[in-house]
Amino acid sequence: MIKVLTIFGTRPEAIKLAPVIKLLEKTPGVRSRVVVTGQHRHMLDQVLSLFEIKPDKDLDIMLNNQTLFEITTRSLLGLEHLLTKEKPNLVLVQGDTTTTFVAALAAFYHKFSIGHVEAGLRTDDKYNPFPEEINRRLTTVLSDLHFAPTKAARTHLLNSGVPKERIFLTGNTVTDALQGILKKSKSHAHPILKSIPSKGKILLVEAHRRENLGKPLENVCFALSRLVEDFTDVHVIFSVHKNPKVQETVHEILKGKERVHLVDPMDYPTLIDLQSRSYLILTDSGGIQEEAPSLGKPVLILRKTTERPEGVKAGVAKLVGTDRAAIYMEAVKLLTSKSEYKKMCRRSNPYGDGKASERIVESILYHFGKRKARPRDFSR
Ligand code: UD1
Repeated sequence: MIKVLTIFGTRPEAIKLAPVIKLLEKTPGVRSRVVVTGQHRHMLDQVLSLFEIKPDKDLDIMLNNQTLFEITTRSLLGLEHLLTKEKPNLVLVQGDTTTTFVAALAAFYHKFSIGHVEAGLRTDDKYNPFPEEINRRLTTVLSDLHFAPTKAARTHLLNSGVPKERIFLTGNTVTDALQGILKKSKSHAHPILKSIPSKGKILLVEAHRRENLGKPLENVCFALSRLVEDFTDVHVIFSVHKNPKVQETVHEILKGKERVHLVDPMDYPTLIDLQSRSYLILTDSGGIQEEAPSLGKPVLILRKTTERPEGVKAGVAKLVGTDRAAIYMEAVKLLTSKSEYKKMCRRSNPYGDGKASERIVESILYHFGKRKARPRDFSR
C-alpha cells in the first residue's frame, strides 16, 4: 500500500486537490489520508462539503487577522506530531500558500517524500506575489515529485536544477474541478442576479492578494466606482474576500454605490455560474485566471506580474496592474469596442484538459514502481 497524505489549508488548494483526492480514494494499492490546517475556516469548509471530503485531521489553526508568522508556526507545530503518527510514503501539497510551504517543510524534517501539485509557476519577482513566489520556490527545493501544469512551468523547474525524471507534465487540476462542476446540471444562480436586469453587463470582481492590500485595492475600487458612474448598464458584483483588510477597503469605498453589489465569497459552483454570466472579469486570483478562458470570458488581471502567462499569450487575459486610470481605460475599451471585446472572448484553455488528476495519480504509481510506463505528458 502506498500511503498518500494530502495536506492543505485554503480554498484554492482544496478546489485543486479535490479531484486528486477523489481519484486517490478509488485507486487500488493507495491509501489516501487527508489533513487540513484550516488556514481558512469558512472558505475551506464550503469546498470540503461540496466535494464531500472528510479530513482525517483538522488542525484548525486560523485566527482572525492572522499574520504569516502565526500561520507558519501554528501549522508547523501541529504537523510535527501528526506526521510522526501518520508515517506516509508521500506527502502531497498544492500551489504556493503558506500551508503548502509549511507542510512540505514538516514532511522534509521527517524525511518523508513530497509531491508538489502545480509546481514550477514563477514570476521571478520576490515580492510579487508575496509571499507566494518564495513559498513555491521553497516548496520546489523541498519536493521529490513535481507535477508541472504547463510546459513553461516545466521549463522553470528544469532551470532550477530539478532532474527531468522527477517532473511530470500534467495540466492543471483546476480544469478537472471545473469540468466536474459543469457536468452536474444543477443551476447555481446567485440570488443577487434577481436584482440585475437581463441587459445589464456584469463585471465580476475578486481581489485579495497581500501585495494589493491598501492603496492598490483602493485604486481598484475607485476605478470600479467611476465605471458604474459612466456606464449605466454596468453592474459590479464584487466577491469580497473574508480577509478583514479586504473587507474594510472595499466597504469603505464601494458600499451603497448604485449598481455595485458587494457579496460574500460564494460556493464554487455559484462562482463558476457567475463567471459564465459575466461580461468581464477583473481579478488578482490565480484560479479565476485559469477558469475564465474555459468559459470564454475575458479577464483583466489586477497585478503587476503573473505566473500564468499562458492566458495573456492566448489573448484572453490582459495584465493591467492596479493603476486607477489603466483599469478604467482597459475596461472602457472592452465595454465600448465590440471587436476588442470579441477578440478576448475566444474559448481556449492552455491550462488543462481535465485529465491532470489522472496523470498525477499515475505518476505516483509509476514512482513507487506500481506501474511500468511513465504517464503521457499533457500537451497543449
Ligand atoms: C491565502 C494565501 C493566498 C491565496 C488565498 C486564497 C497565504 C500567505 N496566502 O491568502 O496565496 O491566494 O489564501 O484565498 O497563504 N479569513 C476568514 N475566513 C476564511 C478565510 C480567511 O475569516 O475562510 C480571514 C482571516 O481573518 C484571515 C484573513 O482572512 O486572517 C486572511 O487569510 P490568510 O490565509 O492569512 O490570507 P489570504 O489573503 O486568504
